[in-house]
Amino acid sequence: MQKRKSSKIDKVYAKHIAELQDFEFSTQVANVFPDMLQRSIPGYSFTLDLIELISRQFAKPNTNVYDLGCSLGATIEQIYKCLPKTCQIIGVENSSAMVKQCKTNIEPVNRQSNIVIRHEDLRDTKIENASVVVMNLTLQFIPVKDRDSVLKKIANGLIEGGVLILCEKVNFDDAYEQSMLNNLYVEFKRAQGYSELEIVQKRAALENVLIPDTISELKKRAKRSGFTKAQLISQCLNFVGLIAVK
Ligand SMILES: C[S@@+](CC[C@H](N)C(=O)[O-])C[C@H]1O[C@@H](n2cnc3c(N)ncnc32)[C@H](O)[C@@H]1O
Repeated sequence: MQKRKSSKIDKVYAKHIAELQDFEFSTQVANVFPDMLQRSIPGYSFTLDLIELISRQFAKPNTNVYDLGCSLGATIEQIYKCLPKTCQIIGVENSSAMVKQCKTNIEPVNRQSNIVIRHEDLRDTKIENASVVVMNLTLQFIPVKDRDSVLKKIANGLIEGGVLILCEKVNFDDAYEQSMLNNLYVEFKRAQGYSELEIVQKRAALENVLIPDTISELKKRAKRSGFTKAQLISQCLNFVGLIAVK
């Protein structure tokens, strides 16, 4: 478990934006991303701790460990020490701003050159000989029509007993549950210091970009994509973690 670095404060939506664009993982976002994650994702640090715990248990020598949608490398920085030395760690990221900063972040810990960061669309990534694949808050940004094929590709590329760790924002079938958890999530953001303007503008910017599944949809996706088990391992408001075993 590692101490998190401090980062610049997220002010991306602090001022009124006349022509609001869809959310992008731009340089502006990359510059404040650690702060944005900490203040926007309930339980973010705990999720990283869980990913470390699971990776420690499931990563096998001479296999690959993938982090799909690795952003600035926070997950890789958390888990690389607990993996067998013979593991190859592959971070995949399609935002050039994120890749640039991720490579800089990873450089000091990449003494054995067993970490590579690939600038590519994860839908084009070949998954092979993998014992652990992490998708921390990434599948939710993949077009819904492509999600099953991404999970199938991961299942095919995992060794027997390998795992996918999937952490996502979710929706709920039950209207009361949806509204209660939405309201609590807004309270969480207020408590983190975000203004009403920031909350409203960010929500609007994400509306067509981040499409949450429900927990049952995620489990069904995993099952029909070739995983034998899909187990809920955490929930913090409307953010969940699942582990899918091949
Ligand atoms: C919410 S962030 C993930 C946070 C990161 N996993 C962490 O724990 O710090 C989602 C990331 O997925 C990346 N992403 C979204 N769609 C992608 C795609 N098709 N291929 C590769 N990366 C993608 C985004 O650029 C962004 O950096």
